This record gives sequence, structure tokens and C-alpha cells, in this order.
Amino acid sequence: MKDKGWFSRNIYKNRRIYMAVFAMYTLIILGIFIYYSNMRERTYVVKGTIEGGGTGELSISAERSKEWKETGTPGFDRGMEYDFVILNSGHGDVLEWQAEIDFVTDFVIDSSWNGDFEVKDHTLVVKPDKKTKEMESKEEKTFGLVMISIDEQDVQEYRIYYKENFQITDSPIFWIVIAAAIITLTVFITDEINLQRYSKLRKWQEEIQAILLESFTTFANIIDAKDPYTQGHSLRVAQYARLIAQKMGYSDIDQERVYWIGMLHDIGKIGITDVILQKPGQLDNMEYSTIQTHVDIGGLILKDFKALPDIADGAQYHHERWDGKGYSRHLAGKDIPEIARIICVADSFDAMTSPRVYRKALSIEFAKKELMKCSGTQFDPDIVPVMIQLIDEGVVPINI
Ligand SMILES: [Fe+2]
Repeated sequence: MKDKGWFSRNIYKNRRIYMAVFAMYTLIILGIFIYYSNMRERTYVVKGTIEGGGTGELSISAERSKEWKETGTPGFDRGMEYDFVILNSGHGDVLEWQAEIDFVTDFVIDSSWNGDFEVKDHTLVVKPDKKTKEMESKEEKTFGLVMISIDEQDVQEYRIYYKENFQITDSPIFWIVIAAAIITLTVFITDEINLQRYSKLRKWQEEIQAILLESFTTFANIIDAKDPYTQGHSLRVAQYARLIAQKMGYSDIDQERVYWIGMLHDIGKIGITDVILQKPGQLDNMEYSTIQTHVDIGGLILKDFKALPDIADGAQYHHERWDGKGYSRHLAGKDIPEIARIICVADSFDAMTSPRVYRKALSIEFAKKELMKCSGTQFDPDIVPVMIQLIDEGVVPINI
């Protein structure tokens, strides 16, 4: 359950990180959009002369294609036809341009094409029509007029006011953000799929673990059922062994292994007749020897249990003594596998503090003294202090 909480928290944390990243992308795109919208509203101006070129990327050229002496308009004696070309030589598209072209003398417009024309003093104001008001890069538009002028006419300066047609898609940052967003989305989806798979796998693992735990507990109950006076003995020994392993610095997984191994340490008792196991009173030498065979039987039963290393050792060697006077192989000191030395201490403490058919349960204080007295003879002198510490902390004994 603890792990499940961690898992859920991490999914939530991951999703929050992705949401924050997507929010950041949205803010950047919104920022670019606002920036380009503002840029679209700005009016630029370029100036120039027909002969001398302009100051910017927009320029106007003119051609006086016809000229004649005007007789039909009082006060005006010249007629001229002008054809203008406005060129966008820049890289961007242009919107809503408007041109002002200065002439030297007064004039009136006789006719015009491709735009709205107006005269202010000597200045021709040209507003493009729908067809000509937008100009892509490198595009040119033409417009022109027939004017009636007072005198010899000539084109002087011009000014062009325009807006640039900025699009958000013109921004390289926009495309970088879009690419980053697509990559992030792909990673997010992959991550989500993996998390779902992991979640299913984890659930399956938890089920397997529950089956394992319940199977081991069932085995432990079967072992304990052989002797009504040792009810809960295997589970308590397993729990004490795990607590010792925890204090000795075993990893979580190894503590779990110690627990399972502890549960089956007396599995060999399955092979001992109930008559001896459940005999009230003291056992004779023959019966005691028979009981002792449970360690060899246990080792034999578990010898092929490869998935849980040391489980056979736990059963085989938990009655060995530190001084070599135990059974059945008479190993001594560190030749006895550590798992068996841990179980030996846990087993003896539970045996002392549990009632037997021939005596009542001994006190915790007595058991503690016995452990200390036999430290270095029966028990591993490094493990006894660990068990004493657990007793002093009140963690041991437990009731099952
Ligand atoms: Fe035993």
C-alpha cells in the first residue's frame, strides 16, 4: 500500500510537470501572437524620389507616358498621363499601404485607375483598391492617372505609409515551440502508456506477492498445527528474524526474504511423527534424536527451492551453535550461514517465551538473561545484542 501511494503520487507529479510545460508553451505562443499582432498594427513610412530611389524596401517609379497641350480646362494648359509602379523589394508582405507623391505645380485629376486618388496642395494621395492593397514580397502593383496641370509638371518626393503583414508562422520561435510541444506530447503519451503498463504490472506483482505471502503463511500454519503447543511459533520467529535483519542493515527485499525463510525454518517437522511432537512430558534420548532430524528433513525438502536462496540453509542449520556443539552438521561460528544464526536467536527466544506442555512460558527477563549468558557459546555474539536491543525497545515479543 505504501508503494502504491508512492506510485500514485509520482503519476500525479509527472502529469503536473507536463501540464506546467504545456502551459509554458501556450504562454510563449500567446506572447508571440501578441507581439506579432502589435507589429501588424504599426505603421511604417519610407521616403524617396522617383529618380533617386527610396529609403526602404518599398519604392515607387513613374513614367510620363503621354503629354499634351490642354485646351478644354480653363486655367490649366497641360495634360499628362502618369503610370506608377510600386515595388515591394523586402522579405515581408505589405498591407494597407498608402502613397503621397509630391508634384511641383497645381493639378487636377482627370481620370485614374487601380486606387482612390485625392489631391492635397501639390500632393497626390493614393489609396490602393482591394486588388492592390496587399503586396507580397517582390511583388509590384501599378496605378496611374491622367492629370491636368497648370504648368510644366514634374514628380518630386514620395512617401509610402504601410503596415507589414506579420504572421505568427513567420516566427522561428513559433515553430521551435510547436516542434518542442509535439516532442513533449509524444513523450507524454509514451510515458502515460508506460505508466498504465507499469500500473498493471505492479498490480499483478502485488497479487503474486499476496499469493506468495499467503502460501508461506499457510505452510507455516501447517507446520505449527503439528504441535498445538507451538501455535504461531513460525510466524513469530519469521517476524523476529526480519526485525533482527532490519537492525543489521539488510535491504527491504532481503528483510522480506529473511521473513519467508523464517516461516519455513521448521518445515522438517512435517516428517516427524505426531506421537513424538505432541508427547506430553520429557522426551527420551531416542525421541530427542528423532526430533533433531527435522533439520535434515527440512534441508532436504527445501534443497530445490532455488528462487529463494538460503531457504534450505535456514531449515538445515538453525539448531547449529556458535561453539559447534549444535546439530546436525556441527558447524561453528561464521561457518554457520548468517540466516541460520539469526533464526537460531529468534527461535530460541520464542521457544523460551512460549508455553510448553511440560512448563509455562518463561519471563522475558529470563529469556533475555539466557540470550546474554549463551552469547558466544550457543548464539552469535553479534546477533544477541541486536535481539536484546529489540527487547529493550519493546518491539519484541509480539503476539500472533
Ligand atoms: Fe527447529
